[in-house]
Amino acid sequence: MIDRYGRDIYYLRLSVTELCNLRCRYCMPAEGVCKLRHDEMLTEDEIIRAVRAAASLGMYKVRITGGEPLVKPNILSICRRVAEVDGVTETVMTTNATRLAALARPLREAGIGRVNISLDTLNAEKYAFMTRGGTLADATNGIEAALEAGFEKVKINAVLIGGFNDDEIPALSALTLRWPVDMRFIELMPMPGDTLFGEQAYIPVSRVLEILPEAVPAAVHDGVARMYRLPGGLGNIGLISPLSNHFCGNCNRLRLTADGHLKPCLHSREEICIRGMNEEQMAEAIRQAAFLKPQQHDPLSRSARSHAARPMNQIGG
Ligand code: GTP
Ligand code: 5AD
Ligand code: SF4
Repeated sequence: MIDRYGRDIYYLRLSVTELCNLRCRYCMPAEGVCKLRHDEMLTEDEIIRAVRAAASLGMYKVRITGGEPLVKPNILSICRRVAEVDGVTETVMTTNATRLAALARPLREAGIGRVNISLDTLNAEKYAFMTRGGTLADATNGIEAALEAGFEKVKINAVLIGGFNDDEIPALSALTLRWPVDMRFIELMPMPGDTLFGEQAYIPVSRVLEILPEAVPAAVHDGVARMYRLPGGLGNIGLISPLSNHFCGNCNRLRLTADGHLKPCLHSREEICIRGMNEEQMAEAIRQAAFLKPQQHDPLSRSARSHAARPMNQIGG
């Protein structure tokens, strides 16, 4: 599906729940989230219907996100059914990995091809602080389980936060020497409901290259990230720069929230509700959402905050 600016929109980010077993400070309000009533959420059948409608328009990549998708009781069934939709050739997931030790293999068997894993620090106390109570070993055990389960690729995402984890750029990057993973650093986006971080928290991902002069550009393409590699690296280092150098010109995605709202753009308040629609109506709504995709989002900075109108846990990244 080609949008008004000539971009091919083939990637659906599907948030299946707003709930999460962690409470990352850049993602969720401290008090957590009120559970949606069942009738406020898409049912499993509606989720599959939406994926079918998207696939009928040529959208072939589906990323299952949350909140944390692995807290959803019927997640394996959703994954299996998404992966079986005609026309969907890539079914992938973004997760915090804390439940992957048990679920990596069943997910692989259900048809998940790749996983992206959120991990901001290798220090257990800092992990507990940033996630408001999480246990680092749960995530690292999950990463190891993912590596053993035979996914086509495992990527690790770290949100780069000045004064919190910029001192860990070398250690996090060194994960690419130990494991065949891509390590991606993401600029902190100022989202509704997040902790109000100070100015020093917002640092450009170019800091990674200042700290790692030995990293060289890698001739691989990775959606939103610019890729580099350390000598001897088993995987790449990626830089995702929504603040210092946005990538809207290459944007290829639409988002669907757990309560059934299509978001043409991560940073816009514009939404289209598809709850209760049949497949044909959903396809029309998806076309409309692609039509409404802005050319680019307004510049973001600590003071120019996202217009998303929802915290990140309701959008799924
Ligand atoms: P693959 O390329 O399929 O591996 O995944 P991905 O990078 O699209 O997905 P992931 O869930 O790992 O997202 C990585 C980071 O990029 C998250 O912090 C997202 O919020 C951010 N991101 C993803 N899409 C967009 C976008 O359209 N705009 C902006 N500004 N940030 C995005
Ligand atoms: N800024 C940047 N990245 C964020 N993520 C969640 N909230 C933010 C934010 N405010 C990241 C998570 C996850 C991905 C889907 O989005 O770390 O890896
Ligand atoms: Fe949960 Fe991911 Fe949000 Fe952290 S960033 S609170 S792991 S949904």
